[in-house]
Amino acid sequence: GRVRHYKFNVVTKKANRLCSSKPIVTVNGQFPGPTLYAREGDTVLVKVVNHVNYNVSIHWHGVRQLRTGWADGPAYITQCPIQPGQNYVYNFTITGQRGTLLWHAHILWLRATVHGAIVILPKRGVPYPFPKPHMEQVVILGEWWKSDTEAVINQALKSGLAPNVSDAHTINGHPGRLHGCQTQGGFQMSVEKGKSYMLRIINAALNEELFFKIAGHKLTVVEVDAVYVKPFQTDTIVIAPGQTTNVILTANRKSSKYTMIASPFMDSPVAVDNKTATATIHYTRALSSSAILTTPPPQNATAVANKFIDSLRSLNSKRFPAKVPLKINHSLYFTVGLGINPCPTCKAGNGSRVVAGLNNVTFVMPTTALLQAHYFKNKGVFTTDFPGKPPIDFNYTGPPPTNLATSNGTKLYRLKYNSTVELVLQDTSIIAAENHPIHLHGFNFFAVGKGIGNYNPKVDAKKFNLVDPVERNTIGVPSGGWVAIRFQADNPGVWFLHCHLEVHTTWGLKMAFLVENGNGPNESLITPPKDLPKC
Ligand code: C2O
Repeated sequence: GRVRHYKFNVVTKKANRLCSSKPIVTVNGQFPGPTLYAREGDTVLVKVVNHVNYNVSIHWHGVRQLRTGWADGPAYITQCPIQPGQNYVYNFTITGQRGTLLWHAHILWLRATVHGAIVILPKRGVPYPFPKPHMEQVVILGEWWKSDTEAVINQALKSGLAPNVSDAHTINGHPGRLHGCQTQGGFQMSVEKGKSYMLRIINAALNEELFFKIAGHKLTVVEVDAVYVKPFQTDTIVIAPGQTTNVILTANRKSSKYTMIASPFMDSPVAVDNKTATATIHYTRALSSSAILTTPPPQNATAVANKFIDSLRSLNSKRFPAKVPLKINHSLYFTVGLGINPCPTCKAGNGSRVVAGLNNVTFVMPTTALLQAHYFKNKGVFTTDFPGKPPIDFNYTGPPPTNLATSNGTKLYRLKYNSTVELVLQDTSIIAAENHPIHLHGFNFFAVGKGIGNYNPKVDAKKFNLVDPVERNTIGVPSGGWVAIRFQADNPGVWFLHCHLEVHTTWGLKMAFLVENGNGPNESLITPPKDLPKC
């Protein structure tokens, strides 16, 4: 592969949306940020220069970072943040991956505006496993707040209550024409009848799982999270924050304008609500009227989402086999949920506050990076006693207070190099019915099973798909249900696992795996780069 150099200047920029303007933090003054292009096998060097008054770090979401945890990016997990006026070069090689991923700030809530696409093309001369589309288009879904997102996070943290929801969703940075006072109608994509287009769809929203549809068109799904899937057709895409989906759109209609929509999964679906973002597909040579053909958000959200998710299968071809771990070394069971802890200083929550945890542990962010502490053997930064199962057997009918209370800690779970893990993520859904998009850094995993209610190992494990389960890096744990994932710990380092709803991460829904070095020549973490930021 070749070496590709990028420069990311983190700067503030005034942006105008929904009739008001505010300064936002951006990369190179762009919102969404610049697309990072590479081919499989390339080495990417991104020099990030911090020109703003916040600490910054950038995460290359879904990039495996084999042995290069120093370049992964989550602040206080793999690196200290890049302080104002400082810079850091992220240096990593893209190994065994091709497709769409995203990069985003991984500190505070800066990723609201600091995010962009990663497009990884196959090696030169290697075709896609589907007919080559005529053109490609990145489609980034996001959220827009009129207020400062730091104020939103502080409100959520101090009150212990849910944060204010965003004022609009966006498609490539724009809310679109359903929102009043837009200086422009939103993102426009021109197509030519008879041609096919690959849309590289990314959900960069902070706190919302989204539906995506295009009026009058079916979409053929070909890849998720930079892994090919068995192609299938659908009207609607479901995409959680952190997930990516490539679809083929064939321009085969007669009219001239069709709406593209991104609408929230959680909110009650109404035909025109003030949070649905729109964009327009425009047939360049159509003769007919200029009326825009529209489409409503899906009516039966859960059923539509399940149908989509259940259709996802690994391609599992000769060239792209699904290497599902069959023998398991670590069988883990994590409850995923929100809880209530006492908080005498919280006014809004009546002396208690919402916290989130895995196995009743609320993760406490350290003040120095875990990966450094591990590498340099600094004591007292973390412990490796993260529980492999909840402290009390989780059961929906169990007494709520014991299920809800969490304890605080910076606890990691230790894995031997190349050991295999099965992790069942059980949503407790005691406070609120929420889907939790759980993201694992440093690995792809196979989603071998999913169900509603309590996971029952005796019955459910027999039904696992160990042949062609979808392989990805972020998975929705269904509200009141569970998912089972499997992966091989073939990447030494410290790897974050967390809910990709920013508010839940902030409340503590996170932990990390510590994967030891192996004994072979290429089985240990590389030495830290010289310019690694200090805390
Ligand atoms: Cu895209 Cu740790 O996140």
